[in-house]
Parts: sequence; structure tokens; C-alpha cells
Amino acid sequence: MQTVEPARIPHKAIPEFADFAHTGPGTLAGEYMRRFWQPVMRSEDLLPARALPITIMSEHYTLFRGEGGEPHVVAQRCPHRSTVLSVGTVEGDSIRCHYHGWRFDGGGQCVEQPAEDDGFAAKVRIAGYPTREHVGLIFAYFGPGEPPSFPNCPAFTDGITEARCEVVPINYFQSWENTWDEVHVAWTHRAGGMHAVPDLSQETFEETDYGVLKRSQKSDGLRRVAVYLMPNIIRVLVPPPNALDKKHSGPRLRESYLFLVPIDDENHMLFNTQEARVPENEREAYAKVYAEYLRKRAEARPRTEVAADILAGKLRIADVLDHPNLVTIEDIVAQAGQGRIVDRSQEWLGRSDAGIIFLRKLWMREMRALAEGRPLKQWAPMKEMPRADNSAGSTAML
Ligand code: FES
Ligand SMILES: [Fe+2]
Repeated sequence: MQTVEPARIPHKAIPEFADFAHTGPGTLAGEYMRRFWQPVMRSEDLLPARALPITIMSEHYTLFRGEGGEPHVVAQRCPHRSTVLSVGTVEGDSIRCHYHGWRFDGGGQCVEQPAEDDGFAAKVRIAGYPTREHVGLIFAYFGPGEPPSFPNCPAFTDGITEARCEVVPINYFQSWENTWDEVHVAWTHRAGGMHAVPDLSQETFEETDYGVLKRSQKSDGLRRVAVYLMPNIIRVLVPPPNALDKKHSGPRLRESYLFLVPIDDENHMLFNTQEARVPENEREAYAKVYAEYLRKRAEARPRTEVAADILAGKLRIADVLDHPNLVTIEDIVAQAGQGRIVDRSQEWLGRSDAGIIFLRKLWMREMRALAEGRPLKQWAPMKEMPRADNSAGSTAML
């Protein structure tokens, strides 16, 4: 019997300005991403007088918080004999190297060398990066020249800020594309109960001075808006994690920011910072609910292990419906299933991929301008969250 070969897409060369995935030093996407403030850690994970190593876009740094509370990012290594500064001690608003005691201020200037002559320290400087805090996260700027204005998105108003961070073993751009992909919600998250199907005829994308405004509508009839801030932030109203979606957790939907930040090309941090508008008189009860949720999360089997078992055929999604991070597991399974860095030359995009196509065109426009030395669009900070016009809830679900 004759076999029929499946249709194959010829392998297309991807131009440099369409390589979104690689962000290490010297890459075009990396150069573009470094021109924006990037979150590097949750504020609550860095106590005063502590230093920690961080890796952002395949480069290593030292993050420390002065005794007075100011966060700073400086180079990974001491310039004397190259040990890592993250094992040093914080003194005041400076960090002292563990090896021979050289001390550096938050901007990277050497201010003391215990065993050297006076005057040497003034000549020694390491890299220091502008560092700020906002919506429960620490941000740093790694690009050239003056950083863009900060913050580029409005703070929450009067609720409780809950910042969470997950390390996801997939290229960041796959996660970022996933936030533009409305159709996946009905399928990837089917088991977890998110069934509303998008009406794609109602989906529009509009470029604004701060980013992209998406309007959409699902089978439940509600119109929704979501805001994308370049290059890697989405602001949406989303339900809280399933385990928090009950009494004392405030309104059904929460203002949320998601930031996708590369650690390296195969891993990224997914920061999810939400505003829980819990009424004052319910905050004590809610604190218990939230603590219990965090405890269950900490005790649960790691999401990445569960996702790996599902991908290996040892488990099914149906076996882990009670996992406190079911939604993330469902997303990791779909995206890791593409490969840790998906081969975009092998895709067959359709009409329903309009969001992903819009995103890629926007990025390609800017990356091409960067590659050719032309001016880039200067994005303005977003002043306030646009609202959908017919409902209390303007939302997109991930
Ligand atoms: S290596 Fe840091 S002081 Fe010598
Ligand atoms: Fe998802």
C-alpha cells in the first residue's frame, strides 16, 4: 500500500530580527530587552543586609539590600581576584568582599581596601546598575545610557500586594506568546475549569503609546481588555489561584501584572504580582487562607517535576487536578512540549494566531530598527488601566 507523506513546511532561515529567543550578551533580542527595566526578584525575598547572586539574560550579577533597605545590583565578581561578591557582607549601604575585604558602594565604586595604600580604591570601580522597587518586585536596568522612566506601569491602589515568582524551564518568549494566545485557555486549562471560548471575530489589537490594547469577548458574553506593555509585561484582571478563590479573598477578579524575564535561554522567571482587594474586616481571616495556600504550594510536588512526568507519559493532567499549581502545570506541559526553545520555522499558524502574529510583527519592527541603527519607538508609561465598556470585569485569562 502506498504511504502518504505528511505535508512538511520547508525549514526557513529565521532572520536575526526575528530571533526573539536568545537574549545573552551580543544578541539582538538581548540588546532590546536590556533597554527596559526588568524585575529580578520579589522584594520580600531580599532582606535588609543580605546579598544574593542573580542571573538575568545569561549574565551574572550581585543583588544586595543595604541595612537601610535600599536594593542595589552590581557586578558578579570582585575586581581584585574575582571571587563572587554575593558571599560578602553588607555594611551600611555597601558590600564588602569576603576574600580580602574590599568594599563597594551601591553604584559599584570601591570605597575601601584594608590592605592597600590610600588612593587606590578611588581608581577601582565595578559595574553598578540602576535599581528600584515597585508592585512587590525589585527592578534593575542593564541597558546603555539613561534608563527609561520608572515605573512604566501604575501601582496598585489599596489592596494587598501578593507577588509570586516561578522559575519555568522554557524560553521566556514561549510564555510571552502564550499570554497573547486566547484560544489556549479553553483547551490547555480545560481540566481546571476554564472553558469560556473566545469569539475571535470580536478580538482586536491596537497599538498605543504605552503598548498594545487587546479587546476580546468570550462565550460568556463579557467584553474584556488586556494591556501589553513592551517588551514583556501583561496587565490583566484574572481570577486568583483556584485555592484562593473563595471566601475572604476579595472580588472574583484581581488586577495582575505578569512579567516574563529570561534567566538564560532555556529558563525564565514568571513574576505574577496581584492586588487582593480584601475588605479591612476580612484581612485577618484572609491572611490565614493565604498562608495555608502558600504552605500547600511549598509542600506540593514541584510543578516542573509533575510537568516532566506528564510529558514522559508517567502521569496525566487528570491525575493532578488537586495540585495547587494546576494552571501553571497545564501551561508548562503545553509549552515545554514545544521544546525548551521552540523551532518557529516549523509552525503552521492560522487565523486564530492573530495575537501572536501581531506581537511578532511589533517585535520584528523594533528589532530590525535596532539592527539597522534606526530610532526605536519610545514607549510612554501607562497611566491607568483601560476598562472594558460593558462590565465590572475586564479580563483576560491566561
Ligand atoms: S577578591 Fe575581593 S577583596 Fe580580594
Ligand atoms: Fe495558560
